[in-house]
Amino acid sequence: MDELTVRAPAKINLHLGVGALREDGYHPLVTVYQAVGLYDDVTARAADGWSLGMTVPDWIGADAVPPAGENIVDRAADLLAAHHGVARIGAVHIAKDIPMAGGMAGGSADAAAALVALDRLWGLDTTDDDLLALAAQLGSDVPFALVGGTALGTGRGELVTPVDDRGTWWWVVVPSEVGLSTPEVYRHFDKMFPDAPSEPVPADALLQAIADGDAWALADALHNDLEAAAIDLRPELGKLIEQGEGAGALRGIVSGSGPTCVFLCGSADHARDLAATLSNAGHPVVLAANGPVAGSHLVSYA
Ligand code: C5P
Repeated sequence: MDELTVRAPAKINLHLGVGALREDGYHPLVTVYQAVGLYDDVTARAADGWSLGMTVPDWIGADAVPPAGENIVDRAADLLAAHHGVARIGAVHIAKDIPMAGGMAGGSADAAAALVALDRLWGLDTTDDDLLALAAQLGSDVPFALVGGTALGTGRGELVTPVDDRGTWWWVVVPSEVGLSTPEVYRHFDKMFPDAPSEPVPADALLQAIADGDAWALADALHNDLEAAAIDLRPELGKLIEQGEGAGALRGIVSGSGPTCVFLCGSADHARDLAATLSNAGHPVVLAANGPVAGSHLVSYA
């Protein structure tokens, strides 16, 4: 293949149980990821050298995306090339559509898509286990971006197992104009909860709700241990959640480490109505997305 495009989804965390800081600087997690229908596309083309370009819509802002040379896609390519002892060559382009620095794992999606695209471009046939292991080296959320769907994440989030999900869930997604740093939110969590248990809160109620396809049970069971820390750093997120719930969301919650907030809705129409209400209330970017959707997958090749 001379050119191919791989599409990777954003994620939200339906459950994010966080335990006390480990010695390696990470926190043990019990999380339930869901891939939602907001995507970045990564195109890889055969070339003599290495180049990385990107198209970033104005509502994301080019400044929010790490430039070529410092992007996680450069690292993904290095890692894959080193694993197989091949040269890192190719012209790679990222078309962004996932909100950045927002708790939706946009960078992780790009890394996952790049691994799949370059594996194909270079004809490497990397095994699934190796691809997942390389993904885990790039970031805790990257293996999930390969797998997609709805999955339980343990360890530091990198160990993913698909779970039973009977629903088609509708979400309204409200990104923030200014990002929040994930390490900063985790540090703030450590300060606020010095007695956090070593075992994170389990996800049993939530797993039951999605296995039953029960939206109200899911609304009740949504859980994020980082939410208090994110809201303490950004009090306006608490107000946004109140506003979305006041406007009819079944439940609003901070996504991952924030600042993006997501609102569970009962149907596609409900999500479109709530999105219009929040948009009319002055939020510059309001998106509607369904989940679960597929992980990183090939969408075109030549
Ligand atoms: O794994 P990743 O590079 O995406 O993590 C970014 C940062 O988020 C880590 O350096 C760490 O500060 C924090 N983190 C954490 N515990 C996790 C995942 C991430 O403390 N399970």
